[in-house]
Amino acid sequence: MAHHFLLFINFFFFLLISFSTSDDASFMSKLSTSISPTPSTWRTDDFCVWEGIKCDNTRHVIAINLVSKSLSGTLPSNLNSLSQLKTLSLQRNSLSGDLPTLANLAFLTEVYLDANNFTSIPSNFFLGLTNLQTFSISDNLNLSPWSLPNDLSQSTNLQSFQASNANVNGFIPDIFDSFPSFQSLRLSYNNLTGTLPATFDGSGIQNLWLDNQLQGLSGTLDVISSMTQLYQVWLQANAFTGAIPDLSKCINLFDLQLSDNQLTGVVPSSLISLPTLANVTLQRNKLQGPLPVFQNGVRDTLGLSTNRFCLATPGNCDPQVTALLEVAEALGYPMLLAESWEGNNACANWNFVSCDSSGKNVTAISFSNVKFSGTISPSFANLTSLRSLSLKDNNLIGSIPEILTSLPDLQLLDVSNNNLSGIVPEFPQKVRVVLDNNLLLGEDIHNGSIKPPDSTPNSSASGGSPTQHSQRKLVSAGMIVGIVISILVFIWIVSYICYYKFYKVPTKLHSQVSRNHNHTPSYENGSLMISIQVLDQVTDNFSDNNVLGRGGFGVVYKGQYDDGSMIAVKRMKLGTKGIKEFQAEIGVLTKVRHRHLVAFLGYCINGNERLLVYEYMEQGTLSQHLFEWRKHKTPPLSWRQRVSIALDVGRGVEYLHSLAQQRFIHRDLKPANILLDGDMRAKVADFGLVKIVLDGKHSVDTRLAGTFGYLPPEYARNGRVTRKVDVYAYGVVLMELVTGRKAVDETMSDESCHLATWFRRVPLLSKENMVNCIDQVLNIDDEVTLESIVKVAELAVHCTACDPFQRPDMSYVVNVLGPLVERWEPSQQEEVQTYHGHHTSLPRVLQANEDTSSMSSFNDFQANSV
Ligand SMILES: Nc1ncnc2c1ncn2[C@@H]1O[C@H](COP(=O)(O)OP(=O)(O)OP(=O)(O)O)[C@@H](O)[C@H]1O
Ligand SMILES: *[C@@H]1O[C@H](CO)[C@@H](O)[C@H](O)[C@H]1NC(C)=O
Ligand SMILES: *[C@@H]1O[C@H](CO)[C@@H](O)[C@H](O)[C@H]1NC(C)=O
Ligand SMILES: *[C@@H]1O[C@H](CO)[C@@H](O)[C@H](O)[C@H]1NC(C)=O
Ligand SMILES: *[C@@H]1O[C@H](CO)[C@@H](O)[C@H](O)[C@H]1NC(C)=O
Ligand SMILES: *[C@@H]1O[C@H](CO)[C@@H](O)[C@H](O)[C@H]1NC(C)=O
Ligand SMILES: *[C@@H]1O[C@H](CO)[C@@H](O)[C@H](O)[C@H]1NC(C)=O
Ligand SMILES: *[C@@H]1O[C@H](CO)[C@@H](O)[C@H](O)[C@H]1NC(C)=O
Ligand SMILES: *[C@@H]1O[C@H](CO)[C@@H](O)[C@H](O)[C@H]1NC(C)=O
Repeated sequence: MAHHFLLFINFFFFLLISFSTSDDASFMSKLSTSISPTPSTWRTDDFCVWEGIKCDNTRHVIAINLVSKSLSGTLPSNLNSLSQLKTLSLQRNSLSGDLPTLANLAFLTEVYLDANNFTSIPSNFFLGLTNLQTFSISDNLNLSPWSLPNDLSQSTNLQSFQASNANVNGFIPDIFDSFPSFQSLRLSYNNLTGTLPATFDGSGIQNLWLDNQLQGLSGTLDVISSMTQLYQVWLQANAFTGAIPDLSKCINLFDLQLSDNQLTGVVPSSLISLPTLANVTLQRNKLQGPLPVFQNGVRDTLGLSTNRFCLATPGNCDPQVTALLEVAEALGYPMLLAESWEGNNACANWNFVSCDSSGKNVTAISFSNVKFSGTISPSFANLTSLRSLSLKDNNLIGSIPEILTSLPDLQLLDVSNNNLSGIVPEFPQKVRVVLDNNLLLGEDIHNGSIKPPDSTPNSSASGGSPTQHSQRKLVSAGMIVGIVISILVFIWIVSYICYYKFYKVPTKLHSQVSRNHNHTPSYENGSLMISIQVLDQVTDNFSDNNVLGRGGFGVVYKGQYDDGSMIAVKRMKLGTKGIKEFQAEIGVLTKVRHRHLVAFLGYCINGNERLLVYEYMEQGTLSQHLFEWRKHKTPPLSWRQRVSIALDVGRGVEYLHSLAQQRFIHRDLKPANILLDGDMRAKVADFGLVKIVLDGKHSVDTRLAGTFGYLPPEYARNGRVTRKVDVYAYGVVLMELVTGRKAVDETMSDESCHLATWFRRVPLLSKENMVNCIDQVLNIDDEVTLESIVKVAELAVHCTACDPFQRPDMSYVVNVLGPLVERWEPSQQEEVQTYHGHHTSLPRVLQANEDTSSMSSFNDFQANSV
């Protein structure tokens, strides 16, 4: 009874299982009819006992093993109803037709379809194969073209994927970071294109067969340098370019096949010395440099004649060739160079290279507009006869190597129209350095964030946002050169004309001088950080009534503490500066402290807002008092005040140049940046553009900055900022003090609108001419004043000498002006001496020769005045 019951139960389960595996049964019965010859054991009903079929104990098919059975026919389309299938091995038969999809066979682990005659792969073939480890479909020559699907990335256990000779086209998908256990990728003899995927980086692939692609994989081999498990690398017969990367981390590399590509550059010594390497092919590339000599036992087919090694025998290349190869290396070994630079003599008609008449020494290199990217190699410096180096119109990045300054014969360095950055080293005077259109050049002085001054690619403007302000400032070197040239042309045309203006002396004079308490805000723990609440309060919530002025970088507000002391708060325009730049600027501001520099009192960062707090300068800017005094209803500045201001500014700048802890260049000296306190004593302001002069350097190259009218001619030529740039601008300010005219006066005729050019043509020796140039509001009745004005005028000419080396130092300027001020204010002498008490190194010689200096500056002016 019990026995029967058990039988019944068994039968019931059998039915149940038969029902639940009916999908498997249906597929298997279709399979038995669609392939031939069907194995003899496949005649029974129970497919689980068929040869090559394995079921689990629920009678689901888990494996089909029909390897090399000479089977032909097709696979039924419902293959993926074998829901428990783990292994599908059908390799080495003659199966044909469309492959059925494998989609969602979540247990499928191994698939071998190679060496058959299948004709197509459905698009969702690889979908949801979450357990797939091995897949092979190589040698199916009749497959219609297919590409590797991104679906494969779901197969996170994938270890091996083989589809050589399988009509694969398209790109290798960039999904290799999905396969932590991946070991073998074999895709030889297909039509793959594109580059090696970036996710090869760090992958554990051991076998990489990508050789013999119809059209060819391209790009560089760089990524393989990080594939440290590589054992066998077959990349021959492709279109790879660039150099063989450093493979020193590929310590298991045994077989490296790189022949028949477009590889350039020197075979890295790290490859030659790889201990495990046994098999190398390099023939039919464009490899350069010395002939590599692999260790004994390496079976290498180097194909000497099919590469571009400098010599047919082992040994170093000629030094000039070596240097040029290093130059090419920094450019990623461009094909253009590999093709032309053949042999061991750089003077044998190599493209882009010129030699001297002896045909031995390289004297010129011109890579103009050849779309090179990469960096400027320091090895240019090994070409010691180099006179001209033109790299213009490329896409070079990085900085200009300092060592290039050591080239003894260099006359021209043109790097215009690239994407260079960093500080430009100081070249000897005789070198013409062309730097135009390198947005970031001179920008990494603070090694923080490097940011182009404008986000608009169109503008190579000096800084700030596109406002009237930045229009005032110069836009590009090209523009400056244009303007300077046109000015020079006008000078040719126009003869000595001295323009002067008639000003009415105002009848109503009233002074607003009052005391500035110079009270500083209280800092928290000595920090310069000031809270926004305090600033809100003192500026009356940044009320319009408290606006002192507007500059290119923001609005300046007056602030008043309860005790009556005043501050000036500069509220930067949003987005003008990143936090790092702002902090770097604060770093500069806190380093420079001097009685003739507007004191920096603190700062505030409030969300996106940046605020700088300065001492309040009651009388505003020098330009207001010099040019707009009628509008402001203030008295014009007396000569006494002007000389005193000149001396104050001179001292401030002298301090910046040589006395501060670090040396600084102001770069934007002009009356708008000179502020006056209640006593009409001047302080230099606006350090927004200040640059540090690095140790041992005297100049920094920068993107163009400064204000037209105050920029010296050499700056337009080479964009180099030296302290002499400030001296020139200072000379222009002196001219403005003397003449009451602006550096650039748009209302004047073209030929005299540029004050410095015009003023330098005034024959100062002729008193009459001189007098005509002096600001009409000045009272010059007494000899002393006139003499003083002439001295300052001469100093102005001296400071604006065309040759920067002829311009004096600021300490010289201070020494000339000191006595002029003392003449009126003996009481100041004391102050001057106290102030300069520590400063005994003033060039006394210059002081003693003051008169001859002025004379020579005058001669120099005549000599330069063509
Ligand atoms: N410390 C200060 N005390 C009194 N007034 C000031 C002070 N700083 C600036 N100002 C006023 O605010 C105006 C704008 O100053 P700001 O330095 O922003 O502009 P700028 O020097 O004209 O331009 P930029 O900074 O772009 O060169 C000045 O012209 C001046 O009138
Ligand atoms: C493969 O199939 C094609 C037809 O699709 C046939 O012409 C060819 O002979 C087959 N090749 C092999 C090796 O079976
Ligand atoms: C090879 O691939 C390229 C690019 O995908 C294609 O243009 C070309 O037709 C392919 N060649 C063959 C024979 O499939
Ligand atoms: C080196 O490569 C060649 C060609 O691919 C091959 O025939 C040879 O067996 C390889 N040598 C070794 C040691 O694997
Ligand atoms: C290039 O110059 C550097 C030093 O300036 C030297 O070390 C190097 O060997 C030189 N290279 C060649 C190829 O002369
Ligand atoms: C070529 O350069 C070498 C080394 O710099 C120098 O000694 C030689 O005089 C140069 N030859 C000519 C013709 O300039
Ligand atoms: C210039 O170089 C910087 C990095 O040095 C890069 O971010 C920028 O995209 C480059 N610009 C151009 C136009 O190539
Ligand atoms: C500049 O670099 C130095 C070291 O490289 C670093 O300590 C310093 O913080 C950097 N400065 C800025 C402003 O990033
Ligand atoms: C660049 O300038 C051109 C013409 O001057 C203008 O059409 C274009 O909009 C500008 N692009 C940007 C990003 O400013």
